Amino acid sequence: MKLGKFLLVCLLASAFAACSGADYTYRYKSDPDIKKLLTRKCTYPAARFIVFTDTHLFDRGLGLDSDGYIKNLHPSEMFNRDGQKVLPVALEEMKSIPADFVIICGDLTRQGERINHELMAKKLTVLTGRGKKVFVIPGNHDILIGHSFRYDSGTQVHTPNVTPEDFATIYAGCGYGEALSRDPSSLSYTAEPVKGLLLLALDSCRYRENVMDGHREDGGRFSGRTLAWIENRLIDAKKQNKAVIAFMHHGILEHFKNQSRSYPDFVLEDFERVSEMLAAYGVDIVFTGHYHAQSIVQRDFPDLGTTLFDIETGSFMNYPLPYRVCEISEDQILTVNSRFVSSIQKDGMDYISYAKMRNIESTTVMASDALKKFHVPDADIALVAPKIARAYVRHLGGDPVPADPSPNTEGLGLFGKLIMVLKGGLVTAWNTNLPPGLNHDIRINLDDGTVLR
Ligand SMILES: [Fe+2]
Ligand SMILES: [Fe+2]
Repeated sequence: MKLGKFLLVCLLASAFAACSGADYTYRYKSDPDIKKLLTRKCTYPAARFIVFTDTHLFDRGLGLDSDGYIKNLHPSEMFNRDGQKVLPVALEEMKSIPADFVIICGDLTRQGERINHELMAKKLTVLTGRGKKVFVIPGNHDILIGHSFRYDSGTQVHTPNVTPEDFATIYAGCGYGEALSRDPSSLSYTAEPVKGLLLLALDSCRYRENVMDGHREDGGRFSGRTLAWIENRLIDAKKQNKAVIAFMHHGILEHFKNQSRSYPDFVLEDFERVSEMLAAYGVDIVFTGHYHAQSIVQRDFPDLGTTLFDIETGSFMNYPLPYRVCEISEDQILTVNSRFVSSIQKDGMDYISYAKMRNIESTTVMASDALKKFHVPDADIALVAPKIARAYVRHLGGDPVPADPSPNTEGLGLFGKLIMVLKGGLVTAWNTNLPPGLNHDIRINLDDGTVLR
């Protein structure tokens, strides 16, 4: 390799490392003054709030009912049309629920269309008009998307998307306008919706790597600069005796075994070290979205004497149409109750059951197509694909786990059995609840991180 080329590669490699935050040096690990600060426990003020996420709003005026929309729909998006009915009903329900504020964990729009962001900001005035503060952060479907389209009969045409600056302007009334601090290198910010409670809104998205008409970067990471900003905010919060709740789009923990390997775009890059930093500064709870699953997981940090909970909420585009109603009491108990949008009917059945049925059907089709590429015989596909689909949808729904989580290989031919040896671990993982084993309703003692049973 020529010297010039070698230097260029080194430069790019170091730029990538700086960009990914992989080489960020955490101050809390070595600074004695900060170490002393970590022993201070901050008291949560009483607070009530609502969490929802992944609304993937798409305005009917962009051709939701056109042939072009249906023709260009990805199989995983098949609910986008019907799913649009869920948000207005959910907002109607939420507006009369007593709450100080509302958190939305990203993927507000289908593909970052400006008109959909503007519509979303308008819809959220239903909540802000009722005295609830609303706080948003972007998801991987929200900013600088190269596939922002409107549809006509049989065609798709580009419609304007939004830049990071546009996003902050459009949602000035949903966090950015009242931010106490904003990260200069991302759309992360802090706010204090209730006195003594600092909201850490974290932008984990990589939209600057998106390509027009090309790649959309779905993975999540914090740059070194953003990590430094986060750590400084956590230090300030400790000094000011403020408790901190964080929210972001990507998972801060794995929600099933080996998720970071099987679905690397859904768990934050370097999540082990970032979650450890949050836990070190006493952050107990991080609300997330992105995988569209109702899932709560915890990570204990014995050396720190703390526990971090990643409370992921499902999407209005999938079974089981959830949102969460949360309350922190003065005696430091966080109560999370999940509600499901149950008043919509579809083809003579409730839409939650309908969505589950169609989620299983569409995942069976996608799993079958994937298995065909491995030349698995049709008879084995007919047995294997529904098992994969049911396990996946069980995880999405946060449903009870089966007695035996491993896939049943009875009746499968050699090829089918081989596939289950290779891929069965994923089915088992989806069929297993990681600790604490509760996905919808939970009570957490914020003093010591224990789950109240
Ligand atoms: Fe999403
Ligand atoms: Fe997402």
